[in-house]
Amino acid sequence: MSDRLPEAPDEPVPFLRFGPRPDRTTYEGWQEFRRTRELFVPVKKISLAEYRLLSPRKRSLHDLHRAATHVNMRMEETPMSAVVTTLMRSRIQNNAMRIGPSTLDGLMINGGGYQGKTETACRTAAEFEDTWRDLFERYPAYYLDPMPGTRDLIAPVAYCQTPVKATPIGLCEAILDFYGAPYGKNLRGMIRNVRESIKAHATTVLLIDDITRLKMHREDDQDTLDLIRGLMDLDVTLVLIGVNIPRSGLLREGWHDPRTKQWVYAPLKKGKSYNPDASTQTERRFDLVNLAPFDYSSDAGIAAFVDHLVGIENQIRLFNAGPGTLSEGEMPEYLYRRTHGIVGLLRRLAEDGLVKAMESGLEDLTTDLLDEITINLGNVPGRDDGRDAEAGEIPDVDTAPKRKPGPRPRRGRNSVYDDRGTPSAAEG
Ligand SMILES: Nc1ncnc2c1ncn2[C@@H]1O[C@H](COP(=O)(O)OP(=O)(O)O)[C@@H](O)[C@H]1O
Ligand SMILES: [Mg+2]
Repeated sequence: MSDRLPEAPDEPVPFLRFGPRPDRTTYEGWQEFRRTRELFVPVKKISLAEYRLLSPRKRSLHDLHRAATHVNMRMEETPMSAVVTTLMRSRIQNNAMRIGPSTLDGLMINGGGYQGKTETACRTAAEFEDTWRDLFERYPAYYLDPMPGTRDLIAPVAYCQTPVKATPIGLCEAILDFYGAPYGKNLRGMIRNVRESIKAHATTVLLIDDITRLKMHREDDQDTLDLIRGLMDLDVTLVLIGVNIPRSGLLREGWHDPRTKQWVYAPLKKGKSYNPDASTQTERRFDLVNLAPFDYSSDAGIAAFVDHLVGIENQIRLFNAGPGTLSEGEMPEYLYRRTHGIVGLLRRLAEDGLVKAMESGLEDLTTDLLDEITINLGNVPGRDDGRDAEAGEIPDVDTAPKRKPGPRPRRGRNSVYDDRGTPSAAEG
C-alpha cells in the first residue's frame, strides 16, 4: 500500500484472533490450541501520563489490547494443579515409553466445576505432545507409517468431551469425531473404530472430559460400564476427567489397592471384552487425583492463595491499580469469600471487575467495585464450553457480596446511576 494513513498502526493487531476459538474436540482444533496456547502477548504496561500522550487511535488500540490482556490471563500453577500435572506427566511419559505387553496405568482427575480440571489436563497433554513431536521430528526414522486408507495424521493426544446426557454410543461418537472417523453400526463396531483410529493415528493419550455426564447409577447402565471397560482395554493412557467420580458409579467395578493407592479393575472375561487381544490383558490400574480449591484454613494455604493473587495482579493493566491491589489488605479474604477459593470463579470475578474498572474510569479494583458484580454461573455463550449443571459442573456455592450495613461511600464516575435502594436486584 502506498499512502499510509498517518494514524495507521505499524503492524496488524496480533492480539485479536480472527474467527472462533479453536474447538479442541477435533484434531484440527486441538492442534491449533496446542500451537497457539502460549502465543498471546500482553500489552506493555504504561503510565497514565504516557497513555495521555498517545494519539486517539493509538489510545483506543491500547485499550483494546488491555481488554484482550485481561481476558487472556495466563494459567498460574497452584499447589493443587501441580499435583495433577506432575502425576499426569509421569503417567503419560512412562506409558509412552513402555514397550512390553503390560497394561498402561490410567488417571482419573476429580474435582468440582470451575476448579481447572479441563485447562490443567489439556495444557499438560499439549505440553507432552510438544515434546513428543519434537523428538519424532528430530528422529524421523521412528515415524510410524500411517495405516493405508486413513488420513495420515499423527495425533499423540486425542481430547473429547462427553456429550450432555450421553449414552455409550454418544461418547464413542465424540471420540470418533476427534479424528473425523466413521461411526460403527453398534457399540461393538463403535469401539472397534475407536481402537483402529487410535492405532492409525498413533495416539498415546486419550482424554475424556466430563465423563461423569454418563449416568451410572441405574440398573440398566451395564452398557456404560462395559464401555468404560472397553476403553480401559485400549492401548492408550486413558485420562478420565469428571465431577465427583467417587459417587458416579465409575469406580463400582474396581477396588482400591491401599498399597499403591490406585483403583484396580480386574480384566474382563474373554468373550465379554470388546478387545480381541484381551487375552494378553491384565488388570488395569488408575490413579485418582483430586483438583481442589484453595484452602484458607492454614498459613500455607493462605500463602498459596495470595501468591495466586499476585500472579493475577501482575497481569492487570489498570492505571490506578498498583502492586497489592488484590493481594493486600482485606482483598484476599474478600476474594476468598466471594469465590470459595475456586480458580475459575476468581477469574470470572476478576475479568468482570476489570471490564467495569475500565468502563467506569475508576481504573482500579476495589471491594466496592467488585460488590457490584454478580458472578454469573449460568452458561455464558462464547465464554465457557457448555456446562451441565445436573452433572455438578457448576458449583453450588454462595458468591453474593455481603453488603456492609450503613451508607456506602460514593465513588466512581457512574455510581450515580446505581440504584442503592434495591441491592438485591443486582443479584438477579
Ligand atoms: N491454574 C489456573 N490459573 C489460572 N486460571 C485457571 C487455572 N485453572 C483454571 N483456570 C481458569 O478457570 C476457568 C475454569 O477452568 P476449567 O478448566 O474449565 O474448570 P473445570 O474443568 O474444572 O470446570 C477457566 O477459565 C480457566 O482458564
Ligand atoms: Mg471442565
